[in-house]
Amino acid sequence: MTALLATRVSRADAASVADAARILAGGGLVAFPTETVYGLGADATNGRAVARLYEAKGRPAFNPLIAHVVGRQAAQALARFDADAARLAAAFWPGPLTLVLPKAAGCPVADLATAGLDTIAVRVPDHDVARGILEAFGKPVVAPSANRSGHVSPTTAEHVRADLGGRIDLIVDGGATPVGVESTIIACLGEPVLLRPGGLPRAAIERALGRKLGDAVTGIAGDESEPLAPGMLASHYAPRTRLRLNVSGVEPGEVLLAFGPARAEGAERAKTVLNLSTRGDLIEAAANLFSHLRTLDAAGARAIAVMPIPSDGLGEAINDRLARAAADR
Ligand code: TXA
Ligand code: MG
Repeated sequence: MTALLATRVSRADAASVADAARILAGGGLVAFPTETVYGLGADATNGRAVARLYEAKGRPAFNPLIAHVVGRQAAQALARFDADAARLAAAFWPGPLTLVLPKAAGCPVADLATAGLDTIAVRVPDHDVARGILEAFGKPVVAPSANRSGHVSPTTAEHVRADLGGRIDLIVDGGATPVGVESTIIACLGEPVLLRPGGLPRAAIERALGRKLGDAVTGIAGDESEPLAPGMLASHYAPRTRLRLNVSGVEPGEVLLAFGPARAEGAERAKTVLNLSTRGDLIEAAANLFSHLRTLDAAGARAIAVMPIPSDGLGEAINDRLARAAADR
């Protein structure tokens, strides 16, 4: 795991906003206030920074993250808006509304941040500090609520320090967050669906849409639970190719997902070999996981053989996702 960091807490002013942007650019982790709750930010385009973020949350699980941007134009580089999504963005951004949309072609957000899905959650926060950091940084920032896994979302800098002090680089203290609950999440992938009730009431959304929201899925009950998957909204990336886990050797017709410096028996037979991390670094492995799976899935092999991965640190989440990908059939 990461060595303990000296977490700085600084008052929200121009200097700490500039600091935050510099730390994000260097792949670091910065907690900052939004109008809903404090978020733990990382450069959305940097897979290793995103891996570190999951690790800092503790008991890491690769739940897809929300990409925060300054406005509609920046959001359009990440996601495709249908008419409903455009209407909701115009009515409620900036504000406590997250839209789950199809990923745009060329979306620069790391595969790990979207957990390998073809959809992406996008939000434009309405808070001076969050906006200042996004503007200064100039790229999308993924930010889950800045709490340890399983804890409630933080609404003050002190909550963040109690949970994540020593695990992140900087906490920007902008006082208590005004809304106090997380953003409302709507999927616009067809008929709009409510995925998580939050700071923006359902009635306001229905007024803007001019009709009722599709049957509430309300899949996200607690903080760390995952959205339900009503067909169109797969909550896990599932490769089409069968996975064979914890292999010591490669069988004919298979491609290989390797880990570490060791060679799997028969690796020379594999049509394609990708290594999650030749050094055996779990942060690097997490950053590569979903993109390597996608590449191997596209090879049209009989199966993807996967070498064993230790289950300490991020290894637990990597193994969890691999087990789900192997079972999802
Ligand atoms: O108010 C908020 O939304 C706060 C602040 C910091 O912006 N953020 C927040 O993030 O609550 P987080 O990671 O704690 O919750 C995001 C939720 C997760 O339950 C995740 O599963 C869901 O959004 N989500 C993200 N991407 C998704 C996707 N592509 N499809 C379905 N659900 C998604
Ligand atoms: Mg959360």
